[in-house]
Amino acid sequence: MRGACAIRRMWDAAMACLRAMTVPTPDPAARAAELRALLQHHAHRYYVLDAPEIPDAEYDRLFQELQAIEAAHPALLTADSPTQRVIGQVLPGLEPVRHTVPMLSIRTETDTTAAGALAFDARVRRELELGEADPPVAYSAELKFDGLAINLRYEEGVLVQAATRGDGETGEDVTHNIRTIGQIPLRLLGEAPPLIEIRGEVYMRRDDFERLNERQREKGGKTFINPRNTAAGAVRQLDSRALADKKLSFFAYGLGDAQGWQRPATHGATLDAIAAFGLPVDAERAVVLGAPGLVAFHERIAARRDALPFDIDGVVYKVDSIALQKRLGFVSREPRWAVAHKYPAQEQVTLLRGIDVQVGRTGKLTPVAKLEPVFVGGTTVSNATLHNLFELRRKGVRVGDRVIVRRAGDVIPEVVGRLPGDRPAYVPNFRMPRACPVCGSRVVREKGGIDHRCSGGLFCPAQRKQALLHFAQRRAMDIEGLGDKLVDQLVEGGLIRTLPELYKLGVAKLAALDRMADKSAANLVAALESSKQTTLARFLYALGIRQVGEATAKDLAKHFGALDRIMDASVEQLLEVNDVGPVVAQSIRTFFEQPHNREVVEQLRAAGVHWDEHAGAAADTSPRPLAGKTLVLTGTLPTLSRDAAKELIEAAGGKVAGSVSKKTHYVVAGEEAGSKLDKARELGVPVLDEAGLRSLLA
Ligand code: IVH
Repeated sequence: MRGACAIRRMWDAAMACLRAMTVPTPDPAARAAELRALLQHHAHRYYVLDAPEIPDAEYDRLFQELQAIEAAHPALLTADSPTQRVIGQVLPGLEPVRHTVPMLSIRTETDTTAAGALAFDARVRRELELGEADPPVAYSAELKFDGLAINLRYEEGVLVQAATRGDGETGEDVTHNIRTIGQIPLRLLGEAPPLIEIRGEVYMRRDDFERLNERQREKGGKTFINPRNTAAGAVRQLDSRALADKKLSFFAYGLGDAQGWQRPATHGATLDAIAAFGLPVDAERAVVLGAPGLVAFHERIAARRDALPFDIDGVVYKVDSIALQKRLGFVSREPRWAVAHKYPAQEQVTLLRGIDVQVGRTGKLTPVAKLEPVFVGGTTVSNATLHNLFELRRKGVRVGDRVIVRRAGDVIPEVVGRLPGDRPAYVPNFRMPRACPVCGSRVVREKGGIDHRCSGGLFCPAQRKQALLHFAQRRAMDIEGLGDKLVDQLVEGGLIRTLPELYKLGVAKLAALDRMADKSAANLVAALESSKQTTLARFLYALGIRQVGEATAKDLAKHFGALDRIMDASVEQLLEVNDVGPVVAQSIRTFFEQPHNREVVEQLRAAGVHWDEHAGAAADTSPRPLAGKTLVLTGTLPTLSRDAAKELIEAAGGKVAGSVSKKTHYVVAGEEAGSKLDKARELGVPVLDEAGLRSLLA
């Protein structure tokens, strides 16, 4: 094999030499142009159409090839080269840019009801002197994106300048930052005119914003107020490195200057042309007829608002015909042919009346702002999250402050900051409680962690559902039939307050529940009964101790051998266990320090939950016929589930691997075994069926 490879390599190298001698090396200028066109095409597929045709690695390869050519031939470098979309340019200040065509703003209709649309249509008809018998006016109806207006100037199809709106006459040159936005082409697709300016909004998607803030929260950094401010702030940075962690997006909505271009006759067709140049244009836009069309659009988008991936503060209506737009003209600095029709604001100011602490399903304590009720993002909000103690402190909010509340999309309402202003002489700073407000257990914070948590675990009612589901899991106590819906019913119906009560459920009580037939009730009782016979590792894992996953539970069981020894182990003793570090050890210690948790364990034992105990690893004398052996499972075995087989193998000292290699000792194959079986045969690894496995174990 090896020899053959070497010969093959030599042959390939020889052929490459030959080709290099006979085939002319491609002209670097031609290849660079070809690569730029290719990369431009694929960037458009990826960023704008969301439909990449090649893997990222292939894009990177083409990109690097172009970089190499440009490095070797600096004269070939062009402004529209994708390699120039780099982060890292720093400017001493932003240069003013005088707009050749002023960037106007539009009148805002603040009546958020249908009346706003009716009033606009009536005004347009009046100005155009249309009578009742005249046909309806066609409008381009669009979203009003909440970001920062930008003018993109393309000369001969190449992006030469990007500027903010500024005062409408003069903006600022932000080309260095705009170049980092993947959605904005550095060269237009297709036949581009000598000059065209495309206008639109730079914004940040809500998920990109939430991710950014989540990262900030995790590292205890400052969070950003809203996507709009974050996007606007980022675009105006002198140092484009500030954009590295902020993903920005863009939607085009109009034209600035254009020369040598036959402009379409309608605004709708203009947007289509802009899309064909490779710029993102929103797909919700529509050409609608008359006031009823506007009202229907306003309502349709209002219903979709929360589901959109970005913030909008309204919709925009524009007379679709450019000829009619010209006839309508302007009043002061606003076109008569367009209007912004608002929606209820997604941010409001209100009074912070108090701060409560909520305990989540996982035991996390969250400070929650109790607010003077306020209408925001379409609903009345009286509670809003403050996330955690550190963020609350950073925002510096105190009871009695006027705070900014944000509710956008399906994200839960949050307090994003406070208004500067007077404060009563003395308002105490908020403190996290030392005891869980729900169950009274001690509140702990992991070393270096941000979150405070209740250590009540199983005992805490706030964590009951989560605890029950975890306990019942297949890998834990394996109580078949105890799922989401049933747990909801059991807890909400007051049938179960503590974990051990699970084992007191009888068929009669269960059968009385919604959608619970006698037979399923009997099945669940039987499943509960058979779950009582378990292993120490499963039981430990089922307790849901923070930081104790399946593997740690197994290590603990193996090391200590008996539950009481684990419950009484000191942090030092716990640290002796394989893979147990200080955070895990402390978590176990804290869990068993809570009298409530010990009580739950005792009650479970009293209810009949049991397992075999042994004196610990040293005394573990069970036979280990598979010690040092690696097995791979594939396909479905006749009686053993994959987990059960794994458990048996591990109990016998063996290891279960995910893929077959030369180091695999046996492959255990069931029905519908796939490529792993082929691989085993190819490598000559012995293949067993379930019976074979059982005889090995025996
Ligand atoms: S058209 C002459 N269309 O809203 C018309 N503007 O005052 C110029 N905006 O800051 C604007 N979405 O950046 C237009 N679909 C849209 C828009 C939109 C958001 C912003 C624009 C400007 C403000 C209008």
